[in-house]
Amino acid sequence: MAAKVIAIASDHSGVDFKETLKGALVEVGLQVLDLGTNSHESVDYPDFAEALTSAIGEGTADWGVLICGTGIGMSIAANRKPFIRAALCHSVTDARLSRQHNNANVLILGARTLGIEIARDCLGAFLDTEFEGGRHQRRVDKMSGLDIQIERKDNETVQEAPKPH
Ligand code: RB5
Repeated sequence: MAAKVIAIASDHSGVDFKETLKGALVEVGLQVLDLGTNSHESVDYPDFAEALTSAIGEGTADWGVLICGTGIGMSIAANRKPFIRAALCHSVTDARLSRQHNNANVLILGARTLGIEIARDCLGAFLDTEFEGGRHQRRVDKMSGLDIQIERKDNETVQEAPKPH
């Protein structure tokens, strides 16, 4: 498993999932950074996606888990940062392939669209699966701006590339 510290956050609709999944993370010996929310009082999912992706950007966490009702809002919000590869997963296959092919660093789950057992299994597959690299590395680099850096070196241009993570 590549990650050691896992940040987890949800909005009000995912708070019960968050508590259960936190327990699962601790059970396998991972350090958990809980970024809220901690009640069923209505909150805005972009605020929690922002807190979690910032923790990854700053290096406080290696990977993250985000939960909202469908997972869609969290996906849109989290993937606005170039170093985030957030995968909305509905099955163990999604979770496994998101690691093998996309080197996903954030798992997104929908608390209103999944059962908690499927969510737990997705988390397990996400944590246990390694990135395959190879042709997938090239594609991931294109999303992180690493391909722009290579071009910059060859052409000696000074255009700033997004910081890879
Ligand atoms: C909150 O009611 C709900 O909109 C949110 O959890 C999420 O599903 C958004 O994508």
